[in-house]
Amino acid sequence: MSKHILLGISGGIAAYKSCELVRLLKKQGHRVTVAMSRAAAEFVSPLTFQALSGNPVLSETHNGESGGNGMAHINLTREADIFLIAPASANTIAKIANGIADNLLTNLAAARKCPLAVAPAMNVEMWFNPANQRNIARLQSDGITVFQPVSGEQACGETGVGRMPEAAELAELLPDLWAEKSLQGKKVLITAGATFEAIDPVRGITNISSGQMGMALARACRAAGAEVSLVYGQIQTGIPAGLAHAEQAISAEAMYQAVMKQVPQQDVFISVAAVADYKVKNSSAQKLKKESGKPPVIELAENPDILASVAKLDKPPFCVGFAAESENIIEHARAKRLRKNIPMLVANDVAVAMGKTINRITIIDDAGETAFPETDKNQAAAAIVSRLAELLASVNPCLKG
Ligand code: CTP
Repeated sequence: MSKHILLGISGGIAAYKSCELVRLLKKQGHRVTVAMSRAAAEFVSPLTFQALSGNPVLSETHNGESGGNGMAHINLTREADIFLIAPASANTIAKIANGIADNLLTNLAAARKCPLAVAPAMNVEMWFNPANQRNIARLQSDGITVFQPVSGEQACGETGVGRMPEAAELAELLPDLWAEKSLQGKKVLITAGATFEAIDPVRGITNISSGQMGMALARACRAAGAEVSLVYGQIQTGIPAGLAHAEQAISAEAMYQAVMKQVPQQDVFISVAAVADYKVKNSSAQKLKKESGKPPVIELAENPDILASVAKLDKPPFCVGFAAESENIIEHARAKRLRKNIPMLVANDVAVAMGKTINRITIIDDAGETAFPETDKNQAAAAIVSRLAELLASVNPCLKG
């Protein structure tokens, strides 16, 4: 959904990251208008932001006016869907927390009608300074979103919390602010990717799952307001930003252990991982040597079925399974849902989906089957979350809100 984003830039070296942020937000299809503080214009030229955003830049030194009535600080936030200040300096944060409006950015913040978000960037001591922490808490209690700074090496040479998140992370998290919060307050555990069963220290049995469907679901659940935990095997994609917990578990046994540890706290379990049904019984601690005419014999033993085990718990979370099929897709998927005793299952054709960016899913639940056309995995994930939220609301009508 295309939005008009007003991007405020206050003074700080992290202003260079905002150049990339403008580019990424534009790539997502949004309109971006940049407003800069006097100090920000010392770090990056307004002309850079004008070229990247394709819009006049409003700054205290170079006034690209909006509306032609000298009321840019009012007009701009009326036109915008969201006002993001990134980077937000300790000084700007302190002023906004206390209602001070003595420059362009703080005037825009005070006069705004649209939601405000800030991405603080400052030295680690400034970040933990009690006055700054008080100001951050006040912003949050005023309904302002704070994108927490991350830890790392700082421009001043010190190391610690205070770095503004990378532009890609902010561009990923910002759209969550206008997403429908259909899973608000829910805790969701997701498995993703392929497991790997070792034959020896360098070889193993795995599959072509890339982890993209699981990651798309993690993003969609996070956007819907859920607290998302992820257990992933081998993946060929990045891990989403803003998750409550993420850990890697390579073998089916390790994934089973990780899931069983996490699951008691969860409301929902979505089992997307392509888990190996068998492990190698006679795996070797040393690399197998080639012996001409004597190929090694690999013996297999059954792995735990993670999804079925979770569904069998005394108080299971709401379980969503996947069925990766290559033939008789719906028939096999229907049988799998009943065999594993789970309320919701997503059937997909391995030839269309596995290792790819697209999927063609059919959602199967007690009410029947809904087939969706081939689409990218983010849209498939949105459809799954939407149905999941409906089913959770029917289990617990209080959720309907
Ligand atoms: N699954 C699991 N643990 C396993 C095997 C599968 O948790 N050891 C989960 C998958 O994450 C998926 C669902 O069970 O949600 C179905 O997985 P799939 O590979 O399609 O089916 P299997 O149960 O392995 O059955 P089959 O191989 O006969 O198709």
